[in-house]
Amino acid sequence: MNCVNEILAAIGKAGKNPDGSYTRACFSREYKEAAETAKELMREQGLEASMDAVWNVRGGLGGSEPGLGTIIIGSHLDTVPGGGLYDGAFGVAAGIEAARRLKEEGRALRHSLEIWGFNGEESNPFGGTFGSRAVCGLVDPAQPGLAEALAGVGLTTDDVLACAKDFSGVKCYLEAHIEQGDRLYRDGLDIGAVSGIVSVIRYRVTAIGQANHAGTTAMKDRSDALVAMSKLIVEAEKSCRGIDDALVFTVGTLSLEPGSENVIPGRVSCCFEFRHMDRRVTDLFLERIREIASGIKTVSFDISPMVDKGSVKCDPRLISVIDRAAEDLGYSHAVVPSGAGHDANPMAHRVPIGMVFVPSEGGFSHCGEEYTKPEDLRKGADVLYRALLTLDEEE
Ligand code: HGY
Ligand code: MN
Ligand code: MN
Repeated sequence: MNCVNEILAAIGKAGKNPDGSYTRACFSREYKEAAETAKELMREQGLEASMDAVWNVRGGLGGSEPGLGTIIIGSHLDTVPGGGLYDGAFGVAAGIEAARRLKEEGRALRHSLEIWGFNGEESNPFGGTFGSRAVCGLVDPAQPGLAEALAGVGLTTDDVLACAKDFSGVKCYLEAHIEQGDRLYRDGLDIGAVSGIVSVIRYRVTAIGQANHAGTTAMKDRSDALVAMSKLIVEAEKSCRGIDDALVFTVGTLSLEPGSENVIPGRVSCCFEFRHMDRRVTDLFLERIREIASGIKTVSFDISPMVDKGSVKCDPRLISVIDRAAEDLGYSHAVVPSGAGHDANPMAHRVPIGMVFVPSEGGFSHCGEEYTKPEDLRKGADVLYRALLTLDEEE
């Protein structure tokens, strides 16, 4: 029996939009509803379930040989605005499904098992992978704006620090996730054993020009912040394509001032996000961005760091256990990198990590079109479960 689709559907009742997409923001009512559902589902499978101060959900199951330590399975329960059913929630559902199968088969693991549903993996005012960073003790209480953002949800930085877990007895962390890219889909593969997770680097880029009258200011006299930022974005995008096929660059947010039809934009601010496995490539790209900006003389630019989440490698042993599990189950598989960030990234700073990918139809994600076939979700849950059993046999 494999009930991962039913478990996912139960979690997916929270935050569904009329257009079929999902919105479960960090610390939102919709997120809380999904977290309460996950907690209840964990309890039904015999896990001791609780929620920590930052609304992460944890389900625990003691092992028959507690001295062997703990295997953690997790992913996130929040979504991007207008996101999909599968990003994050599938991994939590697959973890709960593993617990369900243990119960159904009357099997006791030797290791203890923890299933986690994290809050705030997506971009948010507290910083992405917030919940998992809190558990890993990686949240900097002095992070600019954090105390204020926490006060808004009735928390303090001490509450966050108190969520840090002792990892001394943890063997490894496993996460099942949709690929969110089209490699598996394009190649008709069932399973990806993830090799590593790219960096996520973000800079706040601001063009400082001069607001002025849209009718009386000659073109030759303008210091138009939006035109200058547009030039920088277009040239940076060209430079990105020229540096490396695996380098990606996105401007996902942009604001301008004063924002009136008859005023030349005096100030434009946006987020430049770029990702790659190799720090040298992203360093080179940042240099190019600064060079291009210095060549645009009509405004001045401020380029300040916002987020620097370095790339991480998955543990070779866990990659091979996952790859082998797919093979033994008769599922087609490949070792693939992750172009998306995950809660496994902070976890990699504490324990060895392994990730199981399932295909995203058309490679779509972070949108209502995100879709993975039920049989593919079942295969992913099968591989995760088999990997868990294999790892449980190890000392
Ligand atoms: O942005 C990411 O890569 C992840 O989906 N949060
Ligand atoms: Mn995501
Ligand atoms: Mn995700």
